[in-house]
Amino acid sequence: MLKEKTNIPNHIAIIMDGNGRWAKSRGLTRHQGHKEGKESAKEIVKTCAKLGVKNLTLFAFSTENWKRPKKEVDLLMDLLHNSLMSELKELKDNNIRLTTIGDISKIPFIVRTFLKKVCDDTKNNNLMTLTLALNYGSRDEIINSVKNIADKVKNNIISVEKIDESLINQHLYTRKLPDVDLMIRTSGEKRISNFLLWQSAYAELHFSEELWPDFKSEHLISAITDYQNRERRFGKTSEQLT
Ligand code: IPE
Ligand code: IPE
Ligand code: MG
Repeated sequence: MLKEKTNIPNHIAIIMDGNGRWAKSRGLTRHQGHKEGKESAKEIVKTCAKLGVKNLTLFAFSTENWKRPKKEVDLLMDLLHNSLMSELKELKDNNIRLTTIGDISKIPFIVRTFLKKVCDDTKNNNLMTLTLALNYGSRDEIINSVKNIADKVKNNIISVEKIDESLINQHLYTRKLPDVDLMIRTSGEKRISNFLLWQSAYAELHFSEELWPDFKSEHLISAITDYQNRERRFGKTSEQLT
């Protein structure tokens, strides 16, 4: 149980890692690991919504994950498709809005089409925004935003002097999302892997030893409790905060 009900992170981002190792340790296929990982995702989405987290962003497929064997990539896309189909009703019933970040034009047409439907069907839901990072990479996002801004400068739509944090924010995939407050990575790896580099400039980082399929509500609650015990100074001194 979460002791402190206030000071809930407004935006939690999760690098869901460790499905492959979870499966390997049980003599199962990597795909079975991903399927089990989906169960964790379901539970974490529900618990976040219940705890009052307003924004949850899940790293589901990175720009680098295309380098995996084609068979694994295909199965991951199938799993995404099936999950969207089976969870649409649940998202609607729980007042959760689905959005995506990343270049989804590379996601198979049939999956992309259904994804758009789910985003559209849930767009007026306002309990929590669940964002799936799909074919997402921070460097790709930054390149894309620099190109768009450069184009606007070239066409005299904006002046160079207008380029500031807020303008860059408006050109990122995450333009509608607040900064990340708490970033969680499972599986014991301590790296960011090209996830939300700009947006997590001041995020609190929590690394869990649990492999993603083992990461359940109690682990999420530990991560939030850890977050609540941090002092976020944003460059100031401790004394200035009181
Ligand atoms: C995370 O688990 C899921 C995706 C990256 C899609 P992994 O598949 O990376 O699992 P490990 O890291 O090999 O254990
Ligand atoms: C990060 O996990 C991407 C997702 C969770 C979707 P990876 O397993 O791909 O990360 P690295 O490459 O090992 O850092
Ligand atoms: Mg991994």
